[in-house]
Amino acid sequence: MATKKELEGEVFYPSEQVMAQARVKDWDALAKKADKDFTGFWADEASELEWFKKWDKVLDDSNKPFYKWFTGGKVNIVHNCIDRHLKTHRKNQLALIWESEDGRETRSFSYFAMNREVTRMANIIKAMGVRKGDRVTIYMGRIPEIAFAMLACAKIGAVHSVVFGGFSADALRGRIEDSDSKLVVTQDGNFLNGKIIELKRTVDEAVKKCPSVENVLVIRRTGHEIEMDPLRDHWYHEMEKLPIANGKCTTEEMDAEDPLYILYTSGSTGKPKAVLHVHGGYMVGIYSTLKYVFDAQDGDRYWCAADPGWVTGHSYIVYGPLLVGATSFMFEGGPAYPYPNRWWQCVERYGITILYTAPTAIRGLMRFGEAWPNKHDLSSLRLLGSVGEPINPEAWKWYHRVIGKERCPVMDTWWQTETGMFMITPTPVMPLKPGSGTKPFFGIRAEILNDAGEPVKDGDEGYLVITRPWPAMLRTIYGDAERYVSQYWSKFPGKYLAGDSARRDADGYYWIIGRVDDVINVSGHRLGTAEIESALVSHPAVAEAAAIGLPHEVKGTGIHVFCLLRAGIVPSDALSEELRQHVSKVISPIARPEEVKFLDKLPKTRSGKIMRRVLKARMQGLPEGDLSTLED
Ligand code: WTA
Repeated sequence: MATKKELEGEVFYPSEQVMAQARVKDWDALAKKADKDFTGFWADEASELEWFKKWDKVLDDSNKPFYKWFTGGKVNIVHNCIDRHLKTHRKNQLALIWESEDGRETRSFSYFAMNREVTRMANIIKAMGVRKGDRVTIYMGRIPEIAFAMLACAKIGAVHSVVFGGFSADALRGRIEDSDSKLVVTQDGNFLNGKIIELKRTVDEAVKKCPSVENVLVIRRTGHEIEMDPLRDHWYHEMEKLPIANGKCTTEEMDAEDPLYILYTSGSTGKPKAVLHVHGGYMVGIYSTLKYVFDAQDGDRYWCAADPGWVTGHSYIVYGPLLVGATSFMFEGGPAYPYPNRWWQCVERYGITILYTAPTAIRGLMRFGEAWPNKHDLSSLRLLGSVGEPINPEAWKWYHRVIGKERCPVMDTWWQTETGMFMITPTPVMPLKPGSGTKPFFGIRAEILNDAGEPVKDGDEGYLVITRPWPAMLRTIYGDAERYVSQYWSKFPGKYLAGDSARRDADGYYWIIGRVDDVINVSGHRLGTAEIESALVSHPAVAEAAAIGLPHEVKGTGIHVFCLLRAGIVPSDALSEELRQHVSKVISPIARPEEVKFLDKLPKTRSGKIMRRVLKARMQGLPEGDLSTLED
């Protein structure tokens, strides 16, 4: 273990209490062991879970980069999330606690109850003609049924595709079409920040043009008036009463490599792409990372405050906590409604021990001051986590001091939709540096390369790559294997290109700088410049558009766009506002630009590519760099 003098910069060391409680006390020893024999490490982790049939091979790399894990193994992630626990003391322990936005309703489910709910939903989904391998789109808010729906699909071998409930009808339609979903699961509406989000109405608009959709299953949450198509739409609470909803539903035996879900995310080009994850390796990866990084133990009350619609919610709200047998908490609303103490109230009320959230939420809450969290008893907390974007040391220290009372280590976890699981992350016993995710997880190897593919010197910035396969890695882009290869494995053959730039310091600690591709990370949400630009160009006033990201105090990055208007259209403030609205409507309110500017000309290369970096430099008053390829 490094002593204080050996590490550079500001370092926070684990307390004796953290050391005493930690599952792995000697990080270096396990890291060394796992590095030496990484497939052995993953096989050990996999052995802690139950398999219908054990695998023949841990890693099959005969067709790179289409890696396969635990081939020959038969498994179902739901068997390990739920069924397995029913034979143990966990049967009557709480799996999930939920609180409504207004705080008037609490629902809780033991593992036994979880099984009952998931089984019922699985029976209903099956009755709607969904079979193993079929896709189901889930478009919901944060209510327990979103987890039941995901688990029900997995239980019967269907592939879920969750679309974040903040996306527009257009965005939803594109994703339903691309995945060719037979069934959409939604709710009448969702309570958020004191308003109703019209989920069912958005589904109606989206599926109008989606012939693949045979049925829409609707959960009643708000009870407000919505339209129901008598042939296509079904109320869940009515289906529940039918005989088909009851009785056993066997958990399907899946091949380890059978698909579990697809999840759309923004890439550097074109429309969002569907990242595909599978039952076996994904399960092992998230089980192991949650176990070691948050050191989840029986009796923990774990709260990941993300949305199930993003990968963080998939891995670490729905599947991960159940795999480790934790009690997880889900909150319907946002952090600051009606008052900025809403989260701290929940921590106090339920005795939350582990809190996992995003820097943007921390920065947002920081602005309201310390008095809000200080009103509440936060002494149950023992560990904090951060994800989604680089956390600025200011926010890290506030989180550590004001929320964690300098007692709780902050686990800054770097990972992606594609990686499925934490990749660069501390475990509780590691000395921490605010703003660094420390080192690669056990069995993971990362490098930082220059354009030529050579490792850069410590301290220099470069492309972050992962040089060894890992079990929860994406298997492909659904329906576009070519793009899987070109996007992730072609710039540096044989190495996984994350799309982030990073540097490593003299202590071997990694510091993520940000995206190097055309992805803008707004409040931890990934948006492609191409998506935003095509939304703008779909407006009749706009001929061409360019989107860039600029620093934003709370969101991390805000979207700024430049538009070239069609002939005869006059720029105005009203038009600028209309275009901001338009993007928000076409994609989602999260994509709403901070600012729309009008230009007569966009800076382009001679081959016609928009030079976003020039716009960015201009806006920040920085040198514009090499302009040799600029048109004129
Ligand atoms: C960024 C979210 C710095 C990064 C799990 C990555 C981070 C992208 C961190 C993936 C972190 C995520 N520190 N940057 N701890 N976590 N990122 O797919 O740019 O929504 O490539 O997955 O978020 O976003 P995604």
